This record gives sequence, structure tokens and C-alpha cells, in this order.
Amino acid sequence: MQILVTGSAGFIGFHLARRLLQEGHAVTGVDSFVPYYDLRLKEARHALLDAEPGYRGHRADLADPAVVERILAEAQPEVVVHLAAQAGVRYALEHPDSYIASNIQATFNILDGLKRRPAKHLLIASTSSAYGANETMPFREQDPAVTPLNIYSASKLATEHMAHAYAHLWKQPITAFRFFTVYGPWGRPDMAFFKFTRAILQGEPIDVYNHGQMERDFTYIDDIVEAIRRLIATVPVPGSPACASDSLSPVAPYRLVNIGNGQPVQLLDFIAAIERAAGRAAIRNLMPMQPGDVTRTWADTTLLQALTGFAPATTVEEGIAAFVAWYRDFYPA
Ligand SMILES: NC(=O)c1ccc[n+]([C@@H]2O[C@H](COP(=O)([O-])OP(=O)(O)OC[C@H]3O[C@@H](n4cnc5c(N)ncnc54)[C@H](O)[C@@H]3O)[C@@H](O)[C@H]2O)c1
Repeated sequence: MQILVTGSAGFIGFHLARRLLQEGHAVTGVDSFVPYYDLRLKEARHALLDAEPGYRGHRADLADPAVVERILAEAQPEVVVHLAAQAGVRYALEHPDSYIASNIQATFNILDGLKRRPAKHLLIASTSSAYGANETMPFREQDPAVTPLNIYSASKLATEHMAHAYAHLWKQPITAFRFFTVYGPWGRPDMAFFKFTRAILQGEPIDVYNHGQMERDFTYIDDIVEAIRRLIATVPVPGSPACASDSLSPVAPYRLVNIGNGQPVQLLDFIAAIERAAGRAAIRNLMPMQPGDVTRTWADTTLLQALTGFAPATTVEEGIAAFVAWYRDFYPA
């Protein structure tokens, strides 16, 4: 298939594009190389993709509608996996405007561009933080999500709603997925697992928010990629729910799917796994809760399993060992 992957120099987009290329698909990637974190990492990911036959990469800003128009016309994608975004909960406190351009405007441009050149399936990344202040655990797709706690979450909820409206109006099949704290090799330097590993290996202190009283449903990158590639083939069809708790819209070819591990891990246990993999003890700097953050995430993965027959199962022990091995290789001491 002709598949367009946005955010292809990013953590998840890179892994997905690489996997799709290995399976023989023709992949077009788009990324604007936002300097939000170490650009060498984005360049290195991009170089690996660029070396693959079947890959065509664009450096371009999806917030510009003319760019989106041009890339859709050239790539003629059958499937679009839209992962490009300004991510990060903490950065959103200081740079809220980036989330409007890269999340809301860019997603709108893709939806509107596909109105003129429909794809068989558009898949859009959202986030577990869309559940905001919800306290019912595990988080289920059908639970109302109306209490975003930061502009990142609000921007992602907006993209989900725009996607539903476009799926309804223009019959473009769309799956939106909510990822739960993704980690693994080639990961994001702004995320805790990366910062902790770097600090522990360098003998520097780590900032542990809410005094470590946090739980996250950490999901390993290979599990995320496996779930996405299975969901690509699972096009939402109105009136054909996969299970009783399907989030399938009654009025549009649209559904929302959690992609999480389904097993929250205590932050302090997660840090202990990094310590074991690194062979060094962490120096913990216990901090109060960060504004805009949540203490706990936990995905209900019933729908993902019903749709794909797959549920993420990589343990933090295995996943962190793979990440620390990659880190040592990429950043030799
Ligand atoms: N990694 C996680 O734990 C996690 C959790 C929940 C949701 N998500 C979502 O998954 C998606 C992928 O996340 P990631 O972890 O790979 O992040 P990432 O920051 O590594 O990748 C996103 C990529 O999008 C690119 N980008 C940003 N704005 C752009 C624009 N206007 N035009 C073109 N490219 C642009 C960036 O340069 C970056 O390379 C994002 O939508 C993110 O919000 C990620």
C-alpha cells in the first residue's frame, strides 16, 4: 500500500515507518524537524528511513495547508497515519501556541485535504491525557473526556472532535488512538524514562514528581507499532461494533481506541527497573506534583483486543533493558 506517515522523524513515526517499509509498503514521511528536542536524534532516525528503498521523506510544516495539499497530491496515500504533533505536557505550560499550530491547525489541514482526496483509512494519534481528571479506572474509550488539564490534552481532544465531524460529513473512515506513555529505543529525550536513564548513567540526580506517588501505564514501542499496523487494516464501519464496549460512532465511520499496556506501574518501580538495567543507583530529588499533570493512567484494552486480537504485553523489565542498551550504544560514555 501507499502509506503516508506524518511525524516520521519522531519516535513513534520512525518506528512505524520502518516496520511498514520492512513489510514492503511504499511509505511517504513528513516531518518539520521541530527543534523541541535533540535534532541529531531526528536526523539519525530520518537517515535510517531514507536509506530504505520505498521511502520518500519530506521536510515540511503540516500547519501550512498548501504543503499538505502538495504532499497528498504527490503521495496519493491509501492510508494516512497522522502522528506529527507538538507533544509533551510540561512544555505546554510555556509554549501553548505551538500546540494550536502543530496539533489543531495541522490536523485540520489533513482532514480538509483528505476531503478532496479521500483515503481508505486515516489514523490519528491522541493521548491518554485526553482523559484529564477522570478517576474511573481503567480508562475506557466510552467514558466522557471533558476535563483536560493542559493545552496539550485540550488540543488532542479538539483533534478527536474535528476528526469525528469530518468522518461524519465526508464519510472518511478515521480511527483515533490514545497512546499511554510510550517508551523504548530511539525514544524521546523530553520523557521521564530518557531523562532518568541519562541522569542515572551520569551520576546526576533525577527529579521525581509527586514524591514518586505516580502510576503510568507504560507501553513499549514495539507493542504500539504492532497495534497500529493491525488497526490500519481495521477500518471502522458504522453499525459493525467489535464488542459491547466499542466506541464506534453511531453516525460516522469513526472510533477511538486505547493503545496501552493495561497494567499501570508505580513510578518508583519503573525507576528501579532503570537502575537494574543501568547497574547504578539513582539519586532521587523528590518534587511536588507538576501543574497540569495526572497521578495515574491505566488503559482498558478490551476494545483493542476485540479489534485486533492483540494486547501489548512487554514488561517494563524487558522494555527498559532494551532502551538502556540502545541508549548506551547511541550515546557512548
Ligand atoms: N510518546 C508518547 O508517550 C505519546 C503518548 C501519547 C500520545 N503521543 C502522540 O503520538 C504522536 C507521536 O509522538 P512521538 O512520541 O513520536 O513524538 P515526537 O515529538 O518524537 O514526534 C512528533 C514529530 O512530529 C513533528 N512535527 C511536529 N509538528 C509538526 C508540523 N507542524 N509539521 C510536521 N511535523 C511536525 C516533530 O518534528 C516530531 O518529529 C504525537 O501525536 C503524540 O502527541 C505520544
